[in-house]
Amino acid sequence: MTTPRPETLAKLTPVLTKRWLSPDAWRIGTYEQLDGYAALRKALKAHPDDLIQLIKDSGLRGRGGAGFPTGLKWGFIPQGDGKPHYLVVNADEGEPGTCKDLPLMTHDPHALVEGVIIASYAIRASRAYIYIRGEAVHAARRLRNAVQEAYDKGYLGRNILRSGFDLELVVHSGAGAYICGEETALLDSLEGFRGQPRLRPPFPATHGLYASPTVVNNVGTIASVPPIVLGGADWWKSMGTEKSSGPMIYSLSGRVANPGQYECSMGVTLRELLELAGGMQPGHNLRFWTPGGSSTPLLAAEHLDVPLDFEGVAAAGSILGTTATQIFSDQDCPVYATYRWLEFYHHESCGKCTPCREGNYWMVRVYRRILSGQGTHEDLDTLLDTCDNILGRSFCGLGDGATSSVTSSLKYFKQDYLDYIEGRTAPKLSEKTLVGAH
Ligand SMILES: Cc1cc2nc3c(=O)[nH]c(=O)nc-3n(C[C@H](O)[C@H](O)[C@H](O)COP(=O)(O)O)c2cc1C
Ligand code: SF4
Repeated sequence: MTTPRPETLAKLTPVLTKRWLSPDAWRIGTYEQLDGYAALRKALKAHPDDLIQLIKDSGLRGRGGAGFPTGLKWGFIPQGDGKPHYLVVNADEGEPGTCKDLPLMTHDPHALVEGVIIASYAIRASRAYIYIRGEAVHAARRLRNAVQEAYDKGYLGRNILRSGFDLELVVHSGAGAYICGEETALLDSLEGFRGQPRLRPPFPATHGLYASPTVVNNVGTIASVPPIVLGGADWWKSMGTEKSSGPMIYSLSGRVANPGQYECSMGVTLRELLELAGGMQPGHNLRFWTPGGSSTPLLAAEHLDVPLDFEGVAAAGSILGTTATQIFSDQDCPVYATYRWLEFYHHESCGKCTPCREGNYWMVRVYRRILSGQGTHEDLDTLLDTCDNILGRSFCGLGDGATSSVTSSLKYFKQDYLDYIEGRTAPKLSEKTLVGAH
């Protein structure tokens, strides 16, 4: 295990994670001692439009994967329209490898609750929802407890801190489906329907929850709001890069010595993150990795110095996504890893559109053929052709994301596929997987 050098340690910028190791960090008393609810007091004295402008000025971009500018999104909410407005926090966190929102809600739930109150005040919403993944029982318990503590202290409910602002906050547990993280499927699920994406336009900004103006934001996005209100836009922009401002929680998993969450200024590199995490596990050398979850194209060892911000990762041919860096070594097989991810996408496809529903079903079968030693050279063309029919032709991002590891693993690791097809690598799956597949 390597020890990080002081200059690399200085890359850590704990803002969202700064309270996580405090005793009883999840309790309101601890939170209040460590800056908690100071931003709310400040925000309630400001005009809502000024708060929206502050978030625009900070350059904050959504932490849910797409990196959409948050202030711009808030500014889309029509004002004076006479309709109720809603804030919905996307706490579904289903992207494989992603582990930043659940630890935040478990360790520091009040950071999210405070962010919800400020964001709701800014967009003039008097009702907000946190849609949390059903399996995340522990985080949901902590969150519900925090919400109750906030009600008891007068931070939620009617006439918050005597400001005249009212807000009801509901924590809603989903049933556990990856597609319910897609914002319009989430809204359908919240309304009690089967979670499937909606046709856009109209967009949630005008026709969201109950056909009313709605902002949907990720947990990390909303939890970034109180520090921005306290520290100001310039302080926030002093971290990160020109177009990707602020700190970001990178979750490292896989063949790394100390997996976990590392909060750094955007633009940190994997080389630096690995140093912070004690390096690779003994006996393992980096071979491939995801910069932002399994829906983002794989990168290879040659990409160790790519700046991990929205622009840097895009320039390297991938996507920053959820900053879920899954690390694989020379002892891992990119073909098998891709197959496992495809099983996930096939299982989680909601079935609404044909390219994703059928394409993933068939690609899983082609992978089983290759991995059981029955593959042909034509299978590789079939995979690329199928991806071509899914990418850009699917109803939502799940279909597009499913193709990422297929096309990128074929780009960087075609030889691994050929080794199965030409018999140099022993089959990983038994031929039994080829029959009776569901
Ligand atoms: C299949 C799929 C799953 C998604 N899952 C999540 C999720 O679990 N959490 C999340 O914040 N965004 C998720 N998103 C992105 C959301 O649709 C949306 O862009 C995001 O919640 C917006 O918040 P932000 O602007 O704060 O990033 C998912 C998108 C797709 C296509
Ligand atoms: S791309 Fe997949 S998950 Fe998205 S709507 Fe189509 S079938 Fe459903």
